[in-house]
Amino acid sequence: MDVLSLLKQDHRQVSAMIDSIQKCDPGDERLVELGRQISQALTIHAELEEKLFYPELRDRAGDDEERVDVFEAFTEHDVVKHLISLLNSARRNDERFKAELQVLGESVKHHVAEEESTIFSIAREVLDESELEELGEKMSAAKQRLMRSSSHASTNGKRKSPAKKTTRKANGKNAARRKTAAKRR
Ligand SMILES: [Fe+2]
Repeated sequence: MDVLSLLKQDHRQVSAMIDSIQKCDPGDERLVELGRQISQALTIHAELEEKLFYPELRDRAGDDEERVDVFEAFTEHDVVKHLISLLNSARRNDERFKAELQVLGESVKHHVAEEESTIFSIAREVLDESELEELGEKMSAAKQRLMRSSSHASTNGKRKSPAKKTTRKANGKNAARRKTAAKRR
């Protein structure tokens, strides 16, 4: 598969997950799983593009403006990574968590639209068909490796999921009980 088809396939998968966010109310358990899946998919996708795809385009770009477009894509990845780090910082599954997921979704959709227009046209300009194909094979193999190590890491419990909203409520109740008990004493 050529690199552009491979990336488009990844984009469609992530976009479908992003659309599912809207269907969930704040606090919905599905948001935690969606956050985990989106983070995992985007982390792998960004690493592949930054190591194998963008440098090729940056080095072969025809002019300064094209290089600016490639650096813009790198910078958009930085924004996405910041949002992913917020999601992974053991947040509660509350309104704020859903808001962060939504902002991540909007940023990714903007990035995907620019990538499929501007970046893909630079790629078609600087790489011929066999190079696009070759890069696709290389990225596909690297993706399999990253997915294996990522799922291994998450089964080892390295990934934290946000605490449930109910925990805060339960703690609130316990605190109230403690107060009444203290008054009685
Ligand atoms: Fe990208």
